[in-house]
Amino acid sequence: MKIVSVVGARPNFMKIAPFIRAIASYNVKNVNEKIEHLLVHTGQHYDDRMSKQFFEKLNIPEADTNLGVGSGSHAEQVGLTMIAFEKVLKEEKPDWVVVLGDVNATLACSVTAKKEHIKVCHIEAGLRSGDITMPEEVNRLVTDRISDLLLTPDELSNQNLMNEGTDESRIGFVGNIMIDTLEEKREQAANLDFIDIIRENLHQEKSFHDIDKSKLIEEKIALMTMHRPSNVDKEMILTPIIDFLLNQVCVDFPLIWPIHPRSEKQLKHFGLWNRILKTKNLILLKPLGYIEMLRLNMGAKIMLSDSGGLQEECTVLGTPCLTLRLNTERPITLIENGGASVLVGNSISRIQEEYHKALLQERVPFRPPLWDGDTANRCLEEILKRTC
Ligand code: UD1
Repeated sequence: MKIVSVVGARPNFMKIAPFIRAIASYNVKNVNEKIEHLLVHTGQHYDDRMSKQFFEKLNIPEADTNLGVGSGSHAEQVGLTMIAFEKVLKEEKPDWVVVLGDVNATLACSVTAKKEHIKVCHIEAGLRSGDITMPEEVNRLVTDRISDLLLTPDELSNQNLMNEGTDESRIGFVGNIMIDTLEEKREQAANLDFIDIIRENLHQEKSFHDIDKSKLIEEKIALMTMHRPSNVDKEMILTPIIDFLLNQVCVDFPLIWPIHPRSEKQLKHFGLWNRILKTKNLILLKPLGYIEMLRLNMGAKIMLSDSGGLQEECTVLGTPCLTLRLNTERPITLIENGGASVLVGNSISRIQEEYHKALLQERVPFRPPLWDGDTANRCLEEILKRTC
């Protein structure tokens, strides 16, 4: 059997690593019927810090093919990916194409594969935010509609697919593959030191000497990430969030912010960058590696983020998380469902109110069914079951 797996952007990398390991261990046990696996990187994320460091630290073998798509509008990224991926499929003729998550590579490569009559497996299927203005929601809906095998992270996702009329035979409930990586790297992360992480990853425009290291104490730091177009692309929305961070969070805690290239660009564009640089208690970092981010999350009093993956990691670690979004495709991570996250949108009064409540919240780890570190093996079993 031959599988082509596709990655494109940062959140894909922690999901593909355990899947590739599952194939490798299958091949050790089944020497006479080995799975041939090829990894395709669309090249959507190309900076070392957004891509290469994940490959190195998560032991992902170098991609067999890099489509070199790079930055651009959605249509450009999807279009260029489809043109280049079609050539790969014509050459390789795999039995399965495996796509992950909800990035542009997921959409582009699932559509291209179906047009080549190749079976598609979608890992992390069935998530729905209900917000069609999110590029990721479009990617999820299209990919799930056409994929042959829908591997879901939780029971709410199974329900979403059934509500859309999906035949049960296409669904495999496997759990959350990202948690495989979290469990694998948890111990290694625990051995890292906050100050080393900051020294090694400080944004080039900040000075290490300005940081009060005595304040970097376990459970006494705030951690944030923000990159969604809905938060960073509009000045009217971004400015009040920055005001809140600088005037409130940075007064209470050292705030550690590994910054995404999109957000850095927008902060500069809206003239907010100098205020960020001048705030001493705001520790601006370059985009972090997976293990470093995990370590900071393990020791944070509070997380503020618009990332779906971090919402899930906060749930398993129990870190109180303010999700800077109006909706989520991951309701399993919300406090009302046992998780650690609260949807606060981008209204400052709501963010403020929930921020104060979250500071009183204890760290309560929660593990939804099948978030057990063994999801990648179940993904592979589901594919094998459906391969003649
Ligand atoms: C993409 C995903 C999003 C995911 C996020 C994680 C889609 C639709 N969106 O959004 O779901 O949460 O990745 O990071 O696929 N850039 C660099 N260097 C890089 C990559 C990007 O500087 O290595 C810049 C680009 O020039 C662009 C901006 O960052 O201006 C955004 O990159 P893009 O790939 O368009 O989408 P993300 O916002 O990263």
